[in-house]
Amino acid sequence: MSESVFAYRYGFIGAGAMAEAIVSGMIQSGLCSASDIVMSNRSTEKLEHMKTMYGVATVLNNSLVMQQAEYIILAVKPQQFSAVCESLQSMPGSKQVIVSIMAGLSIATIKEKLGDCIVFRAMPNTPAKIGWGMTGLSCDAEANEAHRQIVQGMFDCVGKTVLVDESYMDALGAVSGCGPAYMYQIIEALADGAVLAGLPRAMAYELAAQTMAGSAMMVLETGMHPGVLKDQVTSPGGTTIRGIQAMESHGVRNAMIEAVQQAYIRSKELGET
Ligand SMILES: NC(=O)c1ccc[n+]([C@@H]2O[C@H](COP(=O)([O-])OP(=O)(O)OC[C@H]3O[C@@H](n4cnc5c(N)ncnc54)[C@H](OP(=O)(O)O)[C@@H]3O)[C@@H](O)[C@H]2O)c1
Repeated sequence: MSESVFAYRYGFIGAGAMAEAIVSGMIQSGLCSASDIVMSNRSTEKLEHMKTMYGVATVLNNSLVMQQAEYIILAVKPQQFSAVCESLQSMPGSKQVIVSIMAGLSIATIKEKLGDCIVFRAMPNTPAKIGWGMTGLSCDAEANEAHRQIVQGMFDCVGKTVLVDESYMDALGAVSGCGPAYMYQIIEALADGAVLAGLPRAMAYELAAQTMAGSAMMVLETGMHPGVLKDQVTSPGGTTIRGIQAMESHGVRNAMIEAVQQAYIRSKELGET
């Protein structure tokens, strides 16, 4: 693929929260420099922020990004994709690579709208902002190894990336895309419990968040089953088993399963609209 045809290596359509997390990671990790990136957005405020904060090029025109960048990241909400398509004066060329982070929209749907181009579908999550993201990535059958490496490289800068068959994308998004919100709910609830037991609020959040982070690292680093790790904390007749009993009687595990299931269903609905 000729790189000289395009003024920019990377173009972002949509300069919101997730686009900023990815751009920040790409520049801070040294994957590329600010001069490799051009961004467009519906309104000016976020573009000004991106220009001032990171020094990237900005344009209030999606078509210019589509014409000038080799790898184009669609970082708008799925409901905004039609408006983006309508704003384009020309569709991408066959040598351009589209990377969609829009929840629910399939590679086939995006190709149907944008025509002859290579499409990747990615599902990052917000911890990408601090380099602790988890991204699922699906490749177009027409993509080659060089495309995959470049696209995966963008997400590797902001955390871990897992390559998955596209049929897993809605389920993956329901766990790792939505998951941070579930974890924040749990941290907040744990902290409320701590406050109820008399601890100061700030200390309660720190204890709850560090406990969640540490427990997650135990699962990742030891590779042990979460149930075995739970058993190690749970002494006979002790305090933890009383807490576990309370969680079970209030259906916490079933609530988490249902949360993922509902998010999965909604992701499928969004893909059909
Ligand atoms: N946040 C997450 O946890 C997460 C996780 C995984 C995937 N995603 C996906 O990432 C995508 C972006 O999410 P986000 O959280 O970054 O949303 P966001 O902060 O709302 O960003 C969306 C951006 O798109 C811009 N936009 C809307 N319509 C446009 C148009 N016609 N042309 C150009 N720009 C347009 C918006 O501009 P304005 O400034 O004018 O509003 C806004 O800056 C979504 O598809 C979401 O499904 C998000």
